[in-house]
Amino acid sequence: MDRKSKFSTSQERATNPLVWCAAIICTVLTVAVIIAGVVTFIGYLVIHPRVPYVSVIDAHLDRMQLDYAGVLEIQVTILIRARNGNQKAHASFSESTYTLGLNGKVVAQLVASPFEVGKNSWVDFNYVVPSSPIPLGPEEAEDVDAGLKKDLIIFDLKGGTRVRWRIGHLGSLRFLCGLDCHLHFHPLNGTYVPSRCTSKTK
Ligand SMILES: *[C@@H]1O[C@H](CO)[C@@H](O)[C@H](O)[C@H]1NC(C)=O
Repeated sequence: MDRKSKFSTSQERATNPLVWCAAIICTVLTVAVIIAGVVTFIGYLVIHPRVPYVSVIDAHLDRMQLDYAGVLEIQVTILIRARNGNQKAHASFSESTYTLGLNGKVVAQLVASPFEVGKNSWVDFNYVVPSSPIPLGPEEAEDVDAGLKKDLIIFDLKGGTRVRWRIGHLGSLRFLCGLDCHLHFHPLNGTYVPSRCTSKTK
């Protein structure tokens, strides 16, 4: 009895260093992975909100008419804010182009000349989009008519802008801010139903 138990104890002792070694390596690896994850997450939290973005902050449907021949006339005002949350760098916005679509048909284009946004600042653009008469096909006219009767018109706003941060003499960081959202309006009184419409950065 005594010898047997001694034998097993010595065998346990023999395997212990290897097990310990594996356990220590695993622990070190696990801790390293956790630290890397935490560092990445904190970096994301610190940097991400400062990335420039564009956002629709208000809109109004000034006019929307559909005549019996199926010709549509609209005027929309869209207020888009270009925000630069960086405390140290100016942001240059260029190639700001957005298309306004209605049931998949492009009804207007919003374009802005290049502009600068200061450190930790923003610029609001009031796009007044007067659209020339748009002839609609019978089905398109029917869709628009149904929306007018329901008092709910949904436009698609798609497009984006290029943004550049100049970092001293080191160079610059470029972003592409893309907008892709639905803007809901009540055509009877022209009100915009606010919803989240903020660019995603690539
Ligand atoms: C406009 O009409 C909608 C729907 O009828 C209503 O919810 C909204 O309060 C109205 N807004 C104004 C400013 O009258």
